[in-house]
Amino acid sequence: MAKKTIADVDVSGKAVLIRVDFNVPLDGDKITDDLRIRMALPTIQSVLDRGGRVILMSHLGRPEGKGVEPEFSLKPAATRLSELLSRPIEFATDTVGSDAVSKVQALSNGGVLLLENVRFNAGEDEKKLKKATGQSSDPAYVNTLASFGDVYCNDAFGTCHRPENASMCSVPKAMTGKLKVMGFLVEKEVQYLEGAVSNPARPFVAILGGKKVSDKIGVIENLLPKCDQILIGGAMAYTFALAKGLKIGKSYAKAEDVPLAQKLLVEGAAKIVLPIDNNAFDNFVWDTYSADPSKTKVFPFGELPGNFEGLDIGPATTQRYVGIVKSAKTVIWNGPMGAFELPPFDAGTRAVAQAIADSSAISIIGGGDSAAAIEQMGFANKVTHLSTGGGASLELLEGSKFETLAILDDK
Ligand code: 3PG
Repeated sequence: MAKKTIADVDVSGKAVLIRVDFNVPLDGDKITDDLRIRMALPTIQSVLDRGGRVILMSHLGRPEGKGVEPEFSLKPAATRLSELLSRPIEFATDTVGSDAVSKVQALSNGGVLLLENVRFNAGEDEKKLKKATGQSSDPAYVNTLASFGDVYCNDAFGTCHRPENASMCSVPKAMTGKLKVMGFLVEKEVQYLEGAVSNPARPFVAILGGKKVSDKIGVIENLLPKCDQILIGGAMAYTFALAKGLKIGKSYAKAEDVPLAQKLLVEGAAKIVLPIDNNAFDNFVWDTYSADPSKTKVFPFGELPGNFEGLDIGPATTQRYVGIVKSAKTVIWNGPMGAFELPPFDAGTRAVAQAIADSSAISIIGGGDSAAAIEQMGFANKVTHLSTGGGASLELLEGSKFETLAILDDK
């Protein structure tokens, strides 16, 4: 059943309590990637344009619920949000304390208030709370947050796989008799990561990279019956090579994932596409690496000698994958093709990103490293959907259903 969105609510004169995911990367107090804040703007703007007021709650990082830890403060997010909205916004130095309560009361329609990091409170992570105290929730914390809004809106896609976070489930559940809806970002993420994947325009191609096969097993199993081809890149390709009894030199591989890879190779024989070649480096050490053409060499897949470590798909694989992307009508990409931080081993990831950017297919980029790569390469506005979720986008691609969305009101 479809869920109500913020567009279905008359927000005029109402306080809308919006859970966002402003868990953004920081360098000191500088935000290095504001995608998550930018993607939350349509929901916030829509409430403001229609005469409502906005109270935002979010986490940042993983503080322990023991009060304020300045390095996890949401203050930099407040500053960035104010710049993006071109208006001043209020910031509360606590989440449910006297500053938050008085600022919620003083907020007038058309105003925005961001509360301090919810994870500064022991009541936010209910799994930890239960372990520490035996209590399954902190009613004072939950009820105070619940009292802040006339309407609850979940626009925190990146946190949708965390039902144990009170602001994601217990708080909306405590808002009895009030509307509980999803924001535009969550609506869009679900539309692409669930909808477009279940009913794709064909050919439907998945490109999966990253380190471990075990991290992507759920995604591969869920996508195998739905997609036409799954292209494998990144370090996990070497675990598949081991599963086929091939030579991987010093490449990263997880021996315990080999049986899993063997099983997938049988189940997905007609659809799984492995690399043909790899670009590798002699005696690679991450911390001291510097580009050196005399130590860089392309080998056929599964023929890497002794001290060579595979760090990227090779040129023949790249050409093949780019060709497959060109003829696809739906492309979903999760995980880089190699060590894209270390040129020349960014070449495979860069070429795949370029092919996706050039294609007119529906393109969906899973969060985490592949989203970072697409942004870094300047293609973010050339894809259909760039997910803001890391763990959450993987779980949705695995076919999981989120309790944090199930509790929202049906249309
Ligand atoms: C994320 O970055 O994946 C989300 O913000 C969730 O963060 P968490 O893994 O710390 O719960």
